Amino acid sequence: MTEIKRFAVIGHPIAHSLSPRIHAFFSKQRRIPLEYSAIDATPEQFEAALEAFTAGGGDGVNITLPHKVRAAELCNELTERARRCGAANTLIRQDHGWLGDNTDGLGLVRDLTDRHGQDLRGRKVLLIGAGGAARGVAPALLDAGIKSLYIVNRTPSRTDALADALGEPARVHPRNFEDLRRLGGFDLVINATSAAREAALPFLPSSLIAPRGDAVDLSYGEVAIPFLAWARAAGGDVVIDGLGMLVEQAAEAFLRWHGVRPDTTAVYEELRASHALLTTAD
Ligand code: ATR
Repeated sequence: MTEIKRFAVIGHPIAHSLSPRIHAFFSKQRRIPLEYSAIDATPEQFEAALEAFTAGGGDGVNITLPHKVRAAELCNELTERARRCGAANTLIRQDHGWLGDNTDGLGLVRDLTDRHGQDLRGRKVLLIGAGGAARGVAPALLDAGIKSLYIVNRTPSRTDALADALGEPARVHPRNFEDLRRLGGFDLVINATSAAREAALPFLPSSLIAPRGDAVDLSYGEVAIPFLAWARAAGGDVVIDGLGMLVEQAAEAFLRWHGVRPDTTAVYEELRASHALLTTAD
């Protein structure tokens, strides 16, 4: 009998993570038996938690808030996209450690383009935040052909560090929050901060969203509500949370681990229905 492979998501907090449910769904759909657990670890506990999972023979790990940057540092190899992000959300077991990948950006791009019919090419994009979530999506947005990427963050040194890491000075523009009024309308505004967790969404002028411009919050559930409400009031056209991105990044991780791409429509619809109160524009 072949041993069932073991996977886990590590984060803090983790209790409400939908990843175990999504991977269980994919496992059933593709008839690939697996075990997928959720491990709660604070930043101080993260390294030990990953070590314990590794020692126990774990085959793959998803990394979520707030450990994606640290996880990339702990991998013994990174894919090109994880290296560009400086953050990893998917770890693949190798003989001598972990290969770190980042499927967040592809997940976001796929959700915007395939599920929501958006064409990202030529778009002027504002990314709010420069932490692990922002780092995860920035390279994929550039690869999708956007015209420009403006980045603002509470801590300017992190804005500059992200812009430097992306290495595309012609398209990537680090800015300050104070500059926002002068920057005019964006075709896409992305909230990649965790500010709403502490009820502290930064002030954003409504002129930020261009006519027919769109907005995405990379989180979902209650913490996405303040930004999505702001975006709708500011006239956003497609205004969405990060639920679709979550499902798509999970599908991409599943593909890396099992060599088979799951179909995401059914699980997305099921999760969307159970988060009905929080459904956004679409
Ligand atoms: P994540 O993995 O969610 O990106 P993170 O790496 O801790 O987690 O990054 C959190 C992001 O939210 C950062 O951009 C952070 O800004 P700082 O770099 O200045 O810390 C941003 N953030 C968190 N709380 C915020 C607040 N109250 N106002 C504005 N930005 C905030």
